Amino acid sequence: MNGFYRATVASNIAFLKYWGKRDKALQWPANDSLSMTLDQLKTETRARLYQGDDHLFRFEGRVYTRQTRQFDKAFRHLDELARLLGEERRLEIDTLNHFPIGAGMASSASGLAALTIATLAAWLDAPTFDRLAAQGFSAERLAHLSRLGSGSAGRSLFGGYVVWEAGVTADQQRVWPFAPATAWNLRDTVVVCSADEKSLSSSDAHQEAWSSPLFKPRLAGLPERMKAMQAALERRDMESLGPLLETEALEMHAVIMTAGQPHQYLAEASLDFLVRLRNARQAGKVQAYFTIDAGPNIHVIHEASEHEKLCQWLKSEYPTQLLLHDKVGSGPQLEYVSH
Ligand code: DP6
Repeated sequence: MNGFYRATVASNIAFLKYWGKRDKALQWPANDSLSMTLDQLKTETRARLYQGDDHLFRFEGRVYTRQTRQFDKAFRHLDELARLLGEERRLEIDTLNHFPIGAGMASSASGLAALTIATLAAWLDAPTFDRLAAQGFSAERLAHLSRLGSGSAGRSLFGGYVVWEAGVTADQQRVWPFAPATAWNLRDTVVVCSADEKSLSSSDAHQEAWSSPLFKPRLAGLPERMKAMQAALERRDMESLGPLLETEALEMHAVIMTAGQPHQYLAEASLDFLVRLRNARQAGKVQAYFTIDAGPNIHVIHEASEHEKLCQWLKSEYPTQLLLHDKVGSGPQLEYVSH
């Protein structure tokens, strides 16, 4: 067997954000989170055994070593997986991303999840999820291993709408599918306000959360918001879900902007867009709501039936704007490929 084990994993957009960690080493989040797994914004990673002193790691065709800052997280995760599995065998790994990395579109979510799945598949010679599960690596265990690489990656192991529960102790954490993609066909149109590398990684920014005076009040209010979001999803009620999405995103950014080391991910173009979208909604032109991860780009969440109208409005207001069109997706894929 000289082929590759190929994992294709879509990113996810958080509706209720994972922001702040109770314990960094254990990757234990400060709160429960809820996300929608996407369909198109994805990472494809293939791996196979490799005879060499270190892993051979390629990103979009170029080789990178463990000294490259950009891929430091990937190499550290590979080392951690090797340690947990007692593996010493090296891998040849090839990764392709279907969207600009580092632009607040949670490329680390799809990237670290795809890396986890492809790595385990290659080590365990398991070309399907069933074969991985038969060897003790269920989707839930893969989610657990993925989130050790990047918290949000754990949620990309399932399709549809996914919950990551923080639990009362770190080992009670649980990632589970709240509703399948077929439950509600929501769209995410990403307004790319900047595709530049982020100025501060979200891993570093998580640590700052506790120093914001807004963080503890935020944590106190989240269980109620989670309940309301879940109820809105169950009822497929956009008018309830939308305002919750916006409040949640603005609250996370308020925490970031008021931390001891204040930071700002939003660009002028992001703020301009938020105001115009809200005005357009009030004027009855579009029925869509925003959410934003730790970056400048705006995710416009809307029902499929609204997509045409939204695109027309975007075209008239922002004729040259770069947009990425996505929707709720059904989860990761794993296959064996000959090249
Ligand atoms: C704003 O998962 O990137 O996207 O665990 O340190 O890798 P690490 O952080 P990461 O944080 C993502 C934060 C967020 C919100 C979310 O996805 O829930």
